Amino acid sequence: MKIMVVGGAGYIGSHMVKMLLEAKHEVVTFDNLSAGFRDSVLGGDFVEGDLCSRAALDACFVAHRPDAVMHFASFIQVGESVRRPDKYYFNNFSNTLNLLDAMIAHKVRHFIFSSTAAIFGEPQYVPIDELHPTNPLNPYGKSKWMVEQALADYEHAFGLKYVCLRYFNAAGADPSGLLGERHEPETHLIPLILRAASGRLPHIQVFGRDYDTPDGTCVRDYIHIVDLCAAHLLALNQLVQNEQSSHFNLGNGAGFSVQQVIDAAERVTGSKIKVLDGARRAGDPARLVADSSKARLALGWTPRYADLETIIGDAWRWERKMLDKAD
Ligand code: UFG
Repeated sequence: MKIMVVGGAGYIGSHMVKMLLEAKHEVVTFDNLSAGFRDSVLGGDFVEGDLCSRAALDACFVAHRPDAVMHFASFIQVGESVRRPDKYYFNNFSNTLNLLDAMIAHKVRHFIFSSTAAIFGEPQYVPIDELHPTNPLNPYGKSKWMVEQALADYEHAFGLKYVCLRYFNAAGADPSGLLGERHEPETHLIPLILRAASGRLPHIQVFGRDYDTPDGTCVRDYIHIVDLCAAHLLALNQLVQNEQSSHFNLGNGAGFSVQQVIDAAERVTGSKIKVLDGARRAGDPARLVADSSKARLALGWTPRYADLETIIGDAWRWERKMLDKAD
């Protein structure tokens, strides 16, 4: 198949492009390079374009005639979304509608959407399965949930078929060392801890030690980027075969606290990491853990890199590469 990967120059998108090419699909990446990097796109065609431009989208669909679209291009910072809801609703929602409308016009009917655990809000129970009520608490989560709702209506009206993949905490890096997490600014826990380990940052701050968890720090479900992308590939194949829209929560089903991640990073890197205790970060639920049994059963998905030290080890290889580059 020929797959259009929107946001293919970003962290998750670039790993997806690599995996699609390895699976012998053709790829065209569509990215405005606002957060991604051209040299993270390891192959296939590349179109520099913005989702808000219907003309740029039309030109891409006409020139490349994709069979399916995977959409990774969104803003992802919860805190920023509270300060700048306009930015999040415009890019994550309105621009996604622009993309969907272009797909319909060009008769492309298969869509894989990057959604998020943030659509669930404060969990009513963990692990969180697909039946958990949705109650996003910030514009980031709301923008993703709005797309999910629009997709159901687009299926009904236009026959679009889609899979929504709700990520828990995507982490790690391609084991080849060729790709990794390159957010600027970086806000995610594991890359920040590793920057503290490598000396690129003086310390890591723990956002709250007074949560209702075993050690008082927040618990998250970290999923290796390669496992995450593998689920996309399975979802795409199944979508094209069965023509059935669906939703999957993607995580390992194992929660690790912020402190456990720091401890694991010290073991992996052999460095003592300087830790400062800070206040809680607004909007952080105490525990977010996925129940991914539906993805395991329906897609035959089995995470291969579920071990936390493996995830951190791959991210560490990437951090050392970034450190060498910075020198
Ligand atoms: N944390 C710290 N210090 C830091 C950074 C993070 O203690 O410097 C803590 C956070 O408070 C949280 C945990 O580490 O408890 C993980 O934080 P991340 O920022 O790495 O990830 P989140 O769980 O906040 O966010 C992830 C995705 C978001 C998505 C969210 C869904 O990265 O895109 O899950 O709730 F919105």
